[in-house]
Amino acid sequence: MGFTLSNQQQLLSKIATGNGHGENSPYFDGWKAYDSDPFHPTKNPNGVIQMGLAENQMCFDLIQEWILNNPEASICTAAGVNEFKDIAIFQDYHGLPEFRNAVANFMGKVRGNRVTFDADRIVMSGGATGAHEMIAFCLADPGDAFLVPVPYYPGFDRDLGWRTGVQLIPVACDSSNNFKVTRAALEAAYEKAQKANIRVKGLLITNPSNPLGTVLDRDTLISLVTFINEKKIHLVCDEIYAATVFSQPSFISIAEIIEENIGCNRNLIHIVYSLSKDMGFPGFRVGIVYSYNDAVVNCARKMSSFGLVSTQTQHLIASMLSDNEFVKRFIAQSAKRLKTRHMRFTMGLAQVSTNCLKSNGGLFVWMDLRRLLKEQTFEAEMVLWRTIIHEVKLNVSPGSSFHCPEPGWFRVCFANMDDKTMEVALTRIRTFVLQNKEAIVPRKSNRLWHSNLRLSFQSRRMDDTMMSPCMMSPHTPIPQSPLVRAT
Ligand SMILES: Cc1ncc(COP(=O)(O)O)c(C=O)c1O
Repeated sequence: MGFTLSNQQQLLSKIATGNGHGENSPYFDGWKAYDSDPFHPTKNPNGVIQMGLAENQMCFDLIQEWILNNPEASICTAAGVNEFKDIAIFQDYHGLPEFRNAVANFMGKVRGNRVTFDADRIVMSGGATGAHEMIAFCLADPGDAFLVPVPYYPGFDRDLGWRTGVQLIPVACDSSNNFKVTRAALEAAYEKAQKANIRVKGLLITNPSNPLGTVLDRDTLISLVTFINEKKIHLVCDEIYAATVFSQPSFISIAEIIEENIGCNRNLIHIVYSLSKDMGFPGFRVGIVYSYNDAVVNCARKMSSFGLVSTQTQHLIASMLSDNEFVKRFIAQSAKRLKTRHMRFTMGLAQVSTNCLKSNGGLFVWMDLRRLLKEQTFEAEMVLWRTIIHEVKLNVSPGSSFHCPEPGWFRVCFANMDDKTMEVALTRIRTFVLQNKEAIVPRKSNRLWHSNLRLSFQSRRMDDTMMSPCMMSPHTPIPQSPLVRAT
């Protein structure tokens, strides 16, 4: 009050007065539009539908049923109140042993029991958000960098960089090979950093990918491990979407790769996990760092004092995840429902010649609207995006917020709503696409793209309107604004 900005800058820290959090980003407009006019089926049927939130709301009936059947799991019920005192006074940063055991067990189950996790290596944090910052603090100093294949989750800029001073360097990936990360792209990014005198401390990957919804294949995983071993840098694997994979090819965890004895230095490997996506509990803030490096486990455990998971939550989660029957049913049902939702949504889009990158995981699709751009620029992408928000009334996320090097891609979340809302959203997109048909420039079909189609019954119509997937150079500058509140 009464202070000018420059007064503030003198009084407060650079972090407090800077824009490292990214809240002033133009991408916030989508959230503002949703917040000021949220869709409701009866009260506001013309409102904005939230499709920018990677939330998993597909199985809350199963969770509620379990909670009702297990009242002793909560310390605030008559059946569980005897534990209240012990849980309320527990404050050890190692966490409740039963919580760590249950999470380690769950992580193994999610990976088809092909690999086991050691409860002593589980370090808790405030969601994967806290886990990423914690790992960045453990591995890098201010000014150091992590390589990150694009497109990537916009929150990484904030999580790994805001308070730590660590930089993220994009690794160029594009649609010419379905956004696969290549050794050449890794080398190019690494070299660029070296030329700029930036010390690269690690490579950060997200598998399954947000925003692509794809999984990394074995060969790619091995090549990444080989790369980081040769460069003697760390590999941080965000596996937060591990249980969202609903069809083949199945998810392969980095934990499986290093079990295969491919001659890798385990001290360089770290997994970030959380229950925000697989269980749909982002509000519980259950984040995990699982490191194969003892020194990192030790340091991270001490750091976890800054972002412990409340013992009340640990207690409930320990109980829920120790119920093997429930976990088995939940994982199977969740995948089944996600598969159905994904199929319904992508088929509905394909019927109006709108395609998505072929994917088999995640809570979203990577929708290709390049043919609706007036020109292949990020400015045109922003124009289209604003039209989608304000006229189609859908809050989707533009590719530029994920540092995508090609304009015209949009991430559309489909698991944070019920079936009826999804149908309304689908109808709106379909109507919009059909109304804008004139703007669609017909292109010849392209083999590579064709292999990427998920639907065959409309294929002729799609071929007629398909655009080349590699219109943009992968070297197009990547916009740097982070998307805040994107999850
Ligand atoms: C790839 C990825 N990592 C981390 C996070 C943050 O998750 P949490 O809610 O556990 O902090 C998200 C959230 O969307 C994400 O998509």
